[in-house]
Amino acid sequence: MAPAAASSRLLFLCLAVAATAGVLQARAQPDSNGFISIDCGLPGTASYVNDGTKLAYVPDAGFTDAGTNQDISAEYMSPTLSRRYHNVRSFPDGVRNCYTLRSIVAGLKYLLRATFKYGNYDGLGRPPIFDLYIGVNFWTMVNVTDADSAIILEAIVLVPDDFVQVCLVNTGSGTPFISGLDLRLLKSTLYPQANATQGLVLLGRMNFGPTNSTAIIRYPDDPHDRVWIPWVNTAAWNSVSTTLRVEDIADDDMFELPTKVLQTAITPRNASANIEFSWDPDPQPKDPTPGYVANMHFSELELLPGSAARQFYVNLNGKPWYPKPYKPMYLISDTIYNSNPGRGFPHYNISINATANSTLPPIINAVEVFSVIPTTNVGTDSQDVSAIMAIKAKYGVKKNWMGDPCVPKTLAWEGLTCSYSISSPPRITSLNLSFSGLNGDISSSFASLKAVQYIYGDNPNLCSNGNSCQTTKTKSKLAIYIAVPVVLVVVIVSVAVLLLCFCRRKKQGPTSNSVKPQNETPVSHAPPAGGSSYPESSLQLENRRFAYKELEMITDNFQRVLGRGGFGYVYDGFLEDGTQVAVKLRSDSSNQGVKEFLAEAQTLTKIHHKNLVSMIGYCKDGDYMALVYEYMSEGSLQEHISGNGRNTGFLSWRQRLRIAMESAQGLEYLHKGCNPPLIHRDVKAANILLNAKLEAKIADFGLTKAYRENDTHMSNTLVGTLGYVDPEYAHSAALFQKHPSHNVTPPLPIFNIGKSCNSAVQPTTKSDVYSFGVVLLELVTGRPAILRDPEPTSIIQWARQRLARGNIEGVADPRMPGDHDVNSVWKAADVALKCTAQASAQRPTMTEVVAQLQECLELEEARRRRRQRPVLRLQRVRS
Ligand SMILES: *[C@@H]1O[C@H](CO)[C@@H](O)[C@H](O)[C@H]1NC(C)=O
Ligand SMILES: *[C@@H]1O[C@H](CO)[C@@H](O)[C@H](O)[C@H]1NC(C)=O
Ligand SMILES: *[C@@H]1O[C@H](CO)[C@@H](O)[C@H](O)[C@H]1NC(C)=O
Ligand SMILES: *[C@@H]1O[C@H](CO)[C@@H](O)[C@H](O)[C@H]1NC(C)=O
Ligand SMILES: *[C@@H]1O[C@H](CO)[C@@H](O)[C@H](O)[C@H]1NC(C)=O
Ligand SMILES: *[C@@H]1O[C@H](CO)[C@@H](O)[C@H](O)[C@H]1NC(C)=O
Ligand SMILES: *[C@@H]1O[C@H](CO)[C@@H](O)[C@H](O)[C@H]1NC(C)=O
Ligand SMILES: *[C@@H]1O[C@H](CO)[C@@H](O)[C@H](O)[C@H]1NC(C)=O
Repeated sequence: MAPAAASSRLLFLCLAVAATAGVLQARAQPDSNGFISIDCGLPGTASYVNDGTKLAYVPDAGFTDAGTNQDISAEYMSPTLSRRYHNVRSFPDGVRNCYTLRSIVAGLKYLLRATFKYGNYDGLGRPPIFDLYIGVNFWTMVNVTDADSAIILEAIVLVPDDFVQVCLVNTGSGTPFISGLDLRLLKSTLYPQANATQGLVLLGRMNFGPTNSTAIIRYPDDPHDRVWIPWVNTAAWNSVSTTLRVEDIADDDMFELPTKVLQTAITPRNASANIEFSWDPDPQPKDPTPGYVANMHFSELELLPGSAARQFYVNLNGKPWYPKPYKPMYLISDTIYNSNPGRGFPHYNISINATANSTLPPIINAVEVFSVIPTTNVGTDSQDVSAIMAIKAKYGVKKNWMGDPCVPKTLAWEGLTCSYSISSPPRITSLNLSFSGLNGDISSSFASLKAVQYIYGDNPNLCSNGNSCQTTKTKSKLAIYIAVPVVLVVVIVSVAVLLLCFCRRKKQGPTSNSVKPQNETPVSHAPPAGGSSYPESSLQLENRRFAYKELEMITDNFQRVLGRGGFGYVYDGFLEDGTQVAVKLRSDSSNQGVKEFLAEAQTLTKIHHKNLVSMIGYCKDGDYMALVYEYMSEGSLQEHISGNGRNTGFLSWRQRLRIAMESAQGLEYLHKGCNPPLIHRDVKAANILLNAKLEAKIADFGLTKAYRENDTHMSNTLVGTLGYVDPEYAHSAALFQKHPSHNVTPPLPIFNIGKSCNSAVQPTTKSDVYSFGVVLLELVTGRPAILRDPEPTSIIQWARQRLARGNIEGVADPRMPGDHDVNSVWKAADVALKCTAQASAQRPTMTEVVAQLQECLELEEARRRRRQRPVLRLQRVRS
């Protein structure tokens, strides 16, 4: 962790990035949305802009080097036909032909869309049938049944590499062709059913009851450019619509539906009937009974009077699909989906019926149905693929070098030998140069073929560095030959990188940061009065008490929802004097009980610190309970880290450090300033709120407890949030228990886990330190506490592995704007790892954490001062 080591690592990373960029810059790249839109078979190099979406469509020459351009026949050309269908690329040669989409981000989710209109382009009048693959995994069969219709196929997959291939495979039923190919970046949190081993193939994506029954909704209304098809059936359904904004307000919106789709819905025309629709399975050659997942999107669009209720069941083939009655929320979208695919039914009949209590018929806004495909086939080692693709490009090898080099074995590239093992991806072990007819200087890419033991060949034109022509026999000799060009490249590139960094810094010089330096000395407060006892029964609150009626006025009838938690909803409100407040109203269905509510209210009346959210008042009016807090306009830290915040910009390193520091001070106060110490027990990014000045305050004291040593009365309920819970306090196995054994995942993941254990468990202040360490890792990496892809992994494990390899740049959040001091990031990551030590005794106290973070902040401030020096000189020159 010496500064020198850190900076040389950084430089090396810069080099790797610069070198890759050099190879790829000639290629078409995703645009700023992460989109690639290809018009297959479009001749020339000019792209054009699509009228409807205003997206640019590029010709396909940069994405494939096989096949030929063809125009569809004149009889299928109509003035209104989308330009994309005017021509196709067909692949008369070779079994497998592929498009390669590069410069994408490995491990993210992408939507791939391929379109096909035959239009009798070959004059044979015989529409073909062929197979489509995503890399080495089967996507779907393309059965082109007529010349005129356009087939649109879509898949959502997690892409393991920084490129993805779409391959057309000739199955002996005609020549494969394609009209268009789209790639759309999705967030990895979207479509939870798509993961490393399972992809989704779209069957239908329907928008119920649109006001214009012919208008498709896609980009820009849908920022992910999904295509929403109108579904209107006036005989069976009435349309309902609103012009108000409809949105999902959950922290982890998994579907990000466009408002325009949510603004319309249907109800049954006969108010006592059900909503019914169905689909039939679409058998595939490789999967005769595909499994299906459905995402049904709901929102209440009518403001219902108190006496009215809309509640319904969702049934599949007459049996409950979602196990509970469901009540859509006004202008808030929510989704019911199944995680485990339903399989083996001859029909899938969905019926949505009102419950006996419901005064209104059921409603639905949109539905998506997908079949699932396994994506378990593993392609050749990705470094080998990049290297061999670079060799192929450099030497212009045509042959059958298409798709994955080694997989499937039957289509492995000629001239290559591969090794296959069960536990790891196939590797390229030899390359027959004389077969491939390679000539010219030795590409440095050969060096990247790490598993190559032999390069065969006796090729008089093959040179290293343009002067010595040699036959290369073994790996060790090869290494000598390629050493020279590689070193040269390194030197040249590093000079370029230094120049680049220098220029950028100069340009950035005079940026003035609006975050004004503040006095860090903690405000001193009296420890909570009494200290030793927190009576459970007699509640003595000093704060203002509100009547429910007053809350209705303050929140304008609970109009604007700020968020929701285990407790219920949090509403926006204004006091009489105009002070903006947040009102947390306990809902009846809340899994946070009356006891927790009172506990939080009581804790909050006793603690006061600038880094703890303060309570303005409370309401206990009959069954109604609410807490009124100071308003935190910037929402939760979790929103900022995930990029789902109200303001989309990402936090700089300095802002992150300040937030870490302030949260740590809040916790230190709980642990040190209170007697007995208070343990928060649910420290997480979602419970750290930010005000307009981005000052951090810890919130949600519903689980907070006083800590007394050897306390036998301590609750034996395990509480906390998955991903943040101290392992010493929790048996992690118990936490990973599944929800009740029905097939359907609840629409909202339940994070607060209350699980009774046999043995009494006793959290300590060190449990909070552990959770804080997780938050600190989130700040450093910009990743959630539990990484979902490729499989659920704790952020601790993820970061530990990378940091052990000295890879700070691979850990630090790439979305952090501006420069940062690498040592400061290292140090913060180190503090986080210490906080998350398995054994609580090895973890620092919050006081030690505060001191360490102070040092991180000083390192970063020193860098800023260094950076600002030229600016000062400039100012002197002016005056
Ligand atoms: C292709 O579609 C046609 C018409 O739906 C059907 O008759 C035929 O069986 C399908 N071919 C295959 C191989 O599934
Ligand atoms: C409905 O949408 C179609 C297709 O976008 C458009 O041509 C038509 O003008 C729209 N009709 C109305 C009434 O807006
Ligand atoms: C409306 O639906 C109910 C229940 O399915 C049925 O009994 C009734 O006949 C329907 N009314 C009309 C007018 O179709
Ligand atoms: C689904 O609906 C179809 C037609 O409406 C009907 O023939 C079939 O029996 C239904 N299947 C089930 C399992 O309910
Ligand atoms: C609606 O569906 C539920 C769950 O399948 C069922 O129990 C109930 O009887 C149905 N109600 C009506 C009125 O069809
Ligand atoms: C229907 O109302 C009754 C009485 O108010 C209540 O006990 C029952 O739980 C309600 N059922 C549902 C499904 O909400
Ligand atoms: C390499 O390719 C050449 C030309 O096709 C062939 O004669 C030779 O046997 C190959 N060598 C190996 C080891 O496969
Ligand atoms: C992907 O999801 C399927 C279905 O839920 C599950 O069986 C599989 O284990 C998941 N794979 C990963 C890597 O999480």
